[in-house]
Amino acid sequence: MSAPHLGEIAPDFTAETTEGTVTFHSWKGDSWAVLFSHPADFTPVCTTELGRVATLESEWERRGVKVIAVSVDPLESHQGWKRDIAEVAGSEVGYPIIADETRAVSELYDMIHPGEGDTSGVRSVFVIDGSHKVRLTLTYPKSVGRNFDEILRAVDALQTTDRGPYSTPADWRAGERVVIAPAIPTAEARDRFGDVEELTPYLRYAAEPAR
Ligand code: BEZ
Repeated sequence: MSAPHLGEIAPDFTAETTEGTVTFHSWKGDSWAVLFSHPADFTPVCTTELGRVATLESEWERRGVKVIAVSVDPLESHQGWKRDIAEVAGSEVGYPIIADETRAVSELYDMIHPGEGDTSGVRSVFVIDGSHKVRLTLTYPKSVGRNFDEILRAVDALQTTDRGPYSTPADWRAGERVVIAPAIPTAEARDRFGDVEELTPYLRYAAEPAR
């Protein structure tokens, strides 16, 4: 199965998790979601990653994002590992971890990395919007822990640009200036956005309009 592409509906599934049985679409409802896979329980990099996601609970909530992790390890393993994560991170894992022993979810989202052992998923991330559309994907190798500040930043950028017509430039952070869509003439941009800085006819900056 190939990984879901940007703009496609994230495939639905029902799976056992540390928070009970989850049917993905009804669990997330019209919230955004971050679905992320990790190779194996009781491993160092994964422990730091799941701990970091747990400490960011209020940041996910603030953006209306539900997080859900997946690995092919069994439920009892996840439950034991959660205690280690809480101890290391200083935060309880309040989000579900899918026990994907049959690899049904991992295969549905193409999270298994050929040549890396037959049981482990790679470090995939799917950011899914309130309409269940896949909005961003990332795939990291086992050796490289993900940067969850970047995932939050990308969610901010997606949610901001949904209110466009504008995009976010390199290294943008929430609250910084946006770039106006090239299709909008500069005169119209000035009417709509007020102060517009025109660096080139196609690169125009403006403050994000108040919500
Ligand atoms: C880790 O998360 O550190 C890890 C995962 C899979 C294999 C080896 C290490």
